[in-house]
Order: sequence, then structure tokens, then C-alpha cells
Amino acid sequence: MSSLIVAPTPASVALAAQRLRAGELVAFPTETVYGLGADAGNPDAVHQIFAAKGRPSDHPVIVHLGRVEQVERWAREFPDGARKLAAAFWPGPLTLILPRAAHVGDAITGGQDSVGLRMPAHPVAKALLAAFASLGGNGIAAPSANRFGHVSPTTARHVEDDLGDAVAMILDGGACEVGIESSIVAFTGAMPVLLRPGGIGVGELARVLGRAPAAPGADAPRASGTLASHYAPRAPAQLVVARELLREVARRETQGERVAVLARTVARPAGFAGTWIEAPADAPRYAHDLYANLRALDAPDIAAMLIEDVPDDAAWLAVRDRLARAAHYRDG
Ligand code: TXA
Ligand code: MG
Repeated sequence: MSSLIVAPTPASVALAAQRLRAGELVAFPTETVYGLGADAGNPDAVHQIFAAKGRPSDHPVIVHLGRVEQVERWAREFPDGARKLAAAFWPGPLTLILPRAAHVGDAITGGQDSVGLRMPAHPVAKALLAAFASLGGNGIAAPSANRFGHVSPTTARHVEDDLGDAVAMILDGGACEVGIESSIVAFTGAMPVLLRPGGIGVGELARVLGRAPAAPGADAPRASGTLASHYAPRAPAQLVVARELLREVARRETQGERVAVLARTVARPAGFAGTWIEAPADAPRYAHDLYANLRALDAPDIAAMLIEDVPDDAAWLAVRDRLARAAHYRDG
């Protein structure tokens, strides 16, 4: 294990909090994916996030909080629907986009009039936020700890592979339980809008809100996770329906192409020489493994990554969203 990756102990978590307060970047586990953290109250530190990720500076970052009372510090309004969602799902895989408080800098908001807030549930993230607060910190700004546009990291090793020594320290919390990013709900217009499906199902959001959140319209706030080519592996990915998967593998092979396969219901054919991963059949476990699977399949010598299509129902919404974006990459 490299010296960057550190087991979480009270001492290492305290050190991580000190480093954040000193303006350095620290990667930490959340229940969704690993975050690349900086002191949200320190614009220079937040700017470093963009350099480390290779991310355009007009993309907003989520501020992570340890306590719901901290919302008032970052948002000038906390609408009733948002309060209900926070009460139901925080700490957890939900991000609320709220009208920003006056002091919140453009480095955090990407120049928009809103701020993204989330209270994560992972015990290491909670411990880090508590240690950070005890040093006078108010929130940790953190996008996913991957290079811009690449697959999000769900282990400490993934973070190191993508960001290496651009970070001061990586707290190792094991594999992330949810495995895909938080659901993002914006409360900046007349109705709540689901900007990104994620760890909390739309059915659960609807139950608490009393109605399903609206789909993003043209006037919705910008979210980089909504770029068509986001969450992409390096090799081109192609979604294939189950009944055509074996035929597509054979077609590629007769052309002399190597492929890697992320199957779900289709068994590996005898004689297939490449990497064939059979993903879990249910959506939560599929999501848990998804980014690690995409990283495991991705190799310089493959012509394509073939991904067996997943069911078209609400339980698979967030997974379908990530697969569609992975497959869009380098299309055409
Ligand atoms: O699960 C997660 O949300 C993870 C963990 C680390 O918390 N974070 C994450 O961050 O996925 P990131 O930056 O990779 O994706 C956050 C998304 C981006 O698409 C960003 O544009 C959007 O949230 N976002 C953040 N603040 C926003 C705002 N004020 N308005 C609209 N979108 C915002
Ligand atoms: Mg991201």
C-alpha cells in the first residue's frame, strides 16, 4: 500500500482535518463514491480541486456537512420540501441544490446562484467532518475523486490511480456501499427537479415530497454529471441487449477485435479469451460493483467494452443513467 493511502484512525482523521484546514486536498470515502475534499471556506483550496481533477472551473462542487444546522450557513433558503428530504435521507446519498447564501464563492457554485449540500453517512466521512468542525471548519467541498469525465472511484486505490500525488492524503474506508453518486434534487425553481438520479430512488423521493420530482428542463441549473459523456471508461463502451450479446462478441472476434464484457444474465461462452464479468442481477448490488467493474474491464488493447443492457424500470434508473453516459463516450 502506498504512503498516500492511510487507514482511518482517530489520529489519521485528525491529521486529515488539519491538512484540510491548512488548505490541502484530502480524499475521503463516502457511502456513494470517494470525494476529493477541500476546505469549502478557502477559495484557494477549492481552486486546487479543479487543477487536480482537470475539471473546468465553472463546474459547481457539493459542500459536505456534518450537521443539518449548517445548511443555514450555506443556503439563504431551506424550502419545506428540501427540509423533508433532509429529514428523511440525511445523512445519506442525497444532495440538495438550494439558493446560495451571499458569502458563498463562485469557486463553489460555478458562478450560479445556488449551492449543492450533502450530509454523507459513511462513518469516516462523518468523523472527518466532526474533526474538521472542531477546528473551526464549516463544510468540506468535494467532487468525486476522479479525473474529470472518468469513472468515479469507489476504493482508495481508484483515487490513487486517477489522482496520484495531487492529493495530500487518501483516507481508506474500503469499498463504497452504494457505489454510484448521490441523487441530486434542486429547489431553485417552482418545483423540485431531479438533476441526477442516484443513491435514493425516485419512488422514495416522491413518497416524501408527495409527488415525483420534475425532470430537468432547459432552465435547470448546470450539473456536470449531466454531460452526455460523463462517467466514461477509456475504452469505448457499447450497450447490447441480452439476446444479441453473444452474436456481437462473435462478430467482433471474427474481425480480430478483442472485447471485454460486462454481462448480467448471459453466461460466458466456452472459448472466450478476454475479460468477462458477470455483474449482480439486482440493481443495488449492480450499482455497488459498477465503477470497479468498468475499471476492471477497461484495458488499452480492447476495441470495445460490451455491456449487457439492464431492465427499463425505476429500480435501475440511476444505473441506466451511468451506463448511457459511459456508452456515449467517443461515440462518433
Ligand atoms: O455522491 C456524490 O454526490 C459524490 C460524493 C463525493 O459526495 N460527489 C459527487 O460530486 O458526485 P461531483 O462533483 O462529481 O458531482 C456533483 C454534481 C456535479 O454534476 C455538479 O455540477 C452538481 O453536482 N452540482 C453541484 N453544485 C451544484 C449547483 N449549485 N447547481 C447545480 N448542480 C450542482
Ligand atoms: Mg463526479
